[in-house]
Amino acid sequence: MKHNITLIPGDGIGPEVTTATVKILEKSGVCINWEIVRMGAEVIEEFGTPMPPYVLESIKKNKVALKGPVTTPVGKGFKSVNVTLRQELNLYANIRPIRTFEGVPSRFENVDLIIVRENSEDLYAGIEHMITEDIAESIKIISKKASDRIVEYAFKIAKEQNRKEVIAVHKANIMKLSDGLFLRCARNIAGTHKDIAFYDVIVDAMSMKLVMNPEKYDVLVMPNLYGDILSDMAAGLVGGLGLVPGANIGEEGAVFEPAHGSAPDIAGKNIANPTACILSSVMMLRHIGEAKAANKIEQAVVAVLKEGKHLTCDLGGTTGTIEFTQVVIDKMLEQTN
Ligand code: NAI
Repeated sequence: MKHNITLIPGDGIGPEVTTATVKILEKSGVCINWEIVRMGAEVIEEFGTPMPPYVLESIKKNKVALKGPVTTPVGKGFKSVNVTLRQELNLYANIRPIRTFEGVPSRFENVDLIIVRENSEDLYAGIEHMITEDIAESIKIISKKASDRIVEYAFKIAKEQNRKEVIAVHKANIMKLSDGLFLRCARNIAGTHKDIAFYDVIVDAMSMKLVMNPEKYDVLVMPNLYGDILSDMAAGLVGGLGLVPGANIGEEGAVFEPAHGSAPDIAGKNIANPTACILSSVMMLRHIGEAKAANKIEQAVVAVLKEGKHLTCDLGGTTGTIEFTQVVIDKMLEQTN
């Protein structure tokens, strides 16, 4: 079967890691017709906006996209295109699996947790204004609808992946109304899934517990801001952002993208680690029913990292993006034969 998929190369290291991923997908035997669309700063001059209408049109039509990171200029007029994309397509669930890999230097072993981040509201609703010249206000939106939906999704993932427990992360001791509502919703939904253990932890305590014993945790569900921060922090525990994939799931489509940003400090140098983007494509393949190819690619990446001979700079090696990609392809073909 041929799949129509939107490809957003992004900017910074985006084109490097998406090119690597597309090469691997081509060799995996899956048949994909890529619709390449550009967004971000590079198209502002031409279209007057970083997100021209064709971006949403393409994803709505194809229902699936693979996306490289896109830079959001700090302090300039345009809202983050990444947040806009998630909101416009109602991609309400952001899934970030975080695990250790044999062969990758890390202080921990056997970490295998999933951060399920609410993706549509919280402080990311973008409602902020100046009260006076010296006082700014950002409004945190938490709704029952979005909280129920994300916690339900966390339990769905827990069931599909045979996980044992779901933890709701919040700050309801201080934000009694907003996080209080999130927690109430989480407890109610948990009550309908008695086969999976559930408890809640306050976000500051959860941060400490994660940096001390990340291997103890399974599925963590939380509002948008805590998910943004804890997923980067957890990435740091297992070897860095170059390893952590992500999926944005909604009713109108799904966008798969690495957790990392456009990394302007290393862009264009052939040193970016494409693993996070490759593993995002593995999540995408499972989503579109291509589990066999997904397993093949994942096994090849795991094997290459385990050998430890071809690691990118972020993991202490010297292998370039292009060379790493070729090693993964060779491993995949070797495993198939
Ligand atoms: P970043 O994730 O781009 O970089 C943080 C650090 O991690 C840098 O030192 C970078 O070199 C390193 N790094 C990231 N990915 C790597 C990889 N694949 N291989 C090796 N090293 C890697 O975060 P930063 O610098 O805060 O953001 C840069 C830009 O990216 C900003 O404009 C931000 O808005 C944007 N961004 C876009 C996202 C998206 O498109 N989904 C997500 C996060 C940030």
